[in-house]
Amino acid sequence: MTQDELKQQVAKAAIEYVKGESIIGVGTGSTVNFFIDLLEDIKGNIDAAVSSSIVTTKRLEKIGIRVIELSEVDQIGVYVDGADEVNPQKKMIKGGGGALTREKIVAAVSKKFVCIVDDSKCVDVMGKFPLPIEVIPMSRSYVARELVKMGGQPVWRENYRTDNGCEIIDVHNLNIMEPMELEKIINNIAGVVTVGLFALRDADVVLVGKGTNVITY
Ligand code: 5RP
Repeated sequence: MTQDELKQQVAKAAIEYVKGESIIGVGTGSTVNFFIDLLEDIKGNIDAAVSSSIVTTKRLEKIGIRVIELSEVDQIGVYVDGADEVNPQKKMIKGGGGALTREKIVAAVSKKFVCIVDDSKCVDVMGKFPLPIEVIPMSRSYVARELVKMGGQPVWRENYRTDNGCEIIDVHNLNIMEPMELEKIINNIAGVVTVGLFALRDADVVLVGKGTNVITY
């Protein structure tokens, strides 16, 4: 199976989790795009979606799904999103697509986080994928120096702005042994908007496309 077929397969499996939900949260990325395509078939059962990025909002609206502001709801039943890495404890690295801040906010408000990945994203120890960190532009060099002190190699995502008008630093060579601790430490650096470690609010369900199967854990 190709990687796209694996993504399609988990996207299909995720549809089962949103059946019966009137308001759903929708993440960002190529895996989620397959999920959005499949939502078209069940859109009559969905009142509205909360989106994690401008790109996702456009895709949802294009197929006729109403997108509402997060402030309009107290809670979202299910949030479906991809990941760049996920470990056996359901902790994730996210933000390869730059939508980490809104993704973290939507995840925080959601009762159930369903993470959809192909098996290339499954790791025992996170950190091979460069850890994305969204920062306030004026803090970029300072945050980068702090990350060097922690043993990382920060690389500025050049000519890139997030939906929030901020910048992203991708940190290479971090061996993430204590994801929850590291998430707190990086969050505490002045100028950091969001670190792409989703360890404190991790996934509730991970669906992995592997061969012709979808593994759930
Ligand atoms: C975007 C994300 C995505 O979920 C992550 O990058 C995975 O994307 P893809 O499904 O394209 O591999 O966190 O900010």
